[in-house]
Amino acid sequence: MKQPVAVVVLAAGTGTRMKSALPKVLHPLANRPMVHHVLANAEALKPAKIVGVIAPGAKDVAQAFAPHPTVVQSKPLGTGHAARAALGSLKGHAGPVLVVFGDAPLVTTETLKRLVAACAREKAAVGVLGFVAEDPTPYGRLIVQHGVLERIVESRDANEIEQAINFSNAGVMCIDGRLIGTLLGAIKNDNAKREFYLTDAVAIARAAGHKAIAVEGPEAEFQGINSRAELAAAERALQQRLRTAAMAGGVTMADPETVWLSADTKLANDVTIGPNVRFGPGVTVASNVEIKAFCDIEGARIGKGAIVGPFARIRPGSEVADDVHIGNFVELKATRIGRGAKANHLAYLGDADIGAGSNIGAGTIAVNYDGFGKWRTVVADDVFIGSNSSLVAPVKVGKGANVTAGSVITDDVPAGGVAFGRARQVTKKGRAAALRAKLKARAAAAKRAKKK
Ligand code: UD1
Ligand code: CA
Repeated sequence: MKQPVAVVVLAAGTGTRMKSALPKVLHPLANRPMVHHVLANAEALKPAKIVGVIAPGAKDVAQAFAPHPTVVQSKPLGTGHAARAALGSLKGHAGPVLVVFGDAPLVTTETLKRLVAACAREKAAVGVLGFVAEDPTPYGRLIVQHGVLERIVESRDANEIEQAINFSNAGVMCIDGRLIGTLLGAIKNDNAKREFYLTDAVAIARAAGHKAIAVEGPEAEFQGINSRAELAAAERALQQRLRTAAMAGGVTMADPETVWLSADTKLANDVTIGPNVRFGPGVTVASNVEIKAFCDIEGARIGKGAIVGPFARIRPGSEVADDVHIGNFVELKATRIGRGAKANHLAYLGDADIGAGSNIGAGTIAVNYDGFGKWRTVVADDVFIGSNSSLVAPVKVGKGANVTAGSVITDDVPAGGVAFGRARQVTKKGRAAALRAKLKARAAAAKRAKKK
């Protein structure tokens, strides 16, 4: 029987180079904290447990790990010291232990699985993911002889010959759970940084006669995040993955590079997305939806066959039913739009319910805020709201009613009714020339007064 793995996520480092008040592992990628990507990839292994190692007082990091438990590394004395902090929570675990870094979110589940499988196959006490680095300068080097990983030399401690090796430590290690206590316990800090290096577990295992192996993976997965520039690079890499997955699932993107997705964006097949569209967190789009260029959608559901944009903004709490049209410069906030309804131009619909088949004219505003409270506007099915109308909430417009253009609606409109909420027009025949003469004289007088 294959033993289940346990996963230890190291996230107690200082993250100095981020120059941030926010702990590094909480910086978002694809609108989700970095460490959640690491956790999602670890969870996919169906491990016996996941333990986070965090810095003292890092309550928000502990929260990000929940429901997984965390242990505190009292001082940042190195990766070996950090991994040791987790030993207490691994008691009784005899399967493999994967040690991963919280700031390396691009390592895929497949690569982790490959490492665990290779360790089992080769009966290795320690397995390490390695990659051929284009520039190995910042990495520990893997010293492999006759297919056996002998040791890892950190860059600062490497001699000239070792410096020239470009087979590098990705930072992911798989350690036999029956040996992990002894191996980590033997790590010392007699090195350039006076730190307890996790990487020393390899030489310690070898000296005790155990096998250690290196498993090669793609460099692109091992980009750690130490700075904002690396954060941006990881974001680009993740976006590329999300786009590729969306297209593989049947989504058309006119210009994929300009479409920004969230880790949780759900796009059904035959969704078409124009250029420069951003999906914030919590968006679900059903099939056959067309999202035209320059839309920003967050926390919303879009039903089958809907057409959105260009230039639409759909904010959290919105639900757009099937076959709805949301046109240019239309903003929705916490608003439900019923099946087949249309709001095609220049509208703000905040805290509103718009019934099926209704037509919302250009320039309609659901006036939802009075400076103190937010109120709902309820428009029933098959209503026609004329252009440039304000619906001052709380207000209801009944089924099949008609609100004439330019109305300010403050009272409920009954089903089937027509509401005029505007001043009557006054027309004066032949008076245009006289009006112009009067305005011209007034402008001239103002100019003379300014000169004086
Ligand atoms: C580490 C490896 C190096 C590898 C590189 C890959 C060691 C000694 N070196 O170096 O061989 O090539 O990653 O990117 O392991 N952490 C703690 N507590 C600590 C120190 C670190 O929790 O006391 C955590 C950090 O939060 C981070 C991870 O461990 O998630 C890696 O630490 P970092 O200092 O970035 O290691 P590197 O110097 O990059
Ligand atoms: Ca690092």
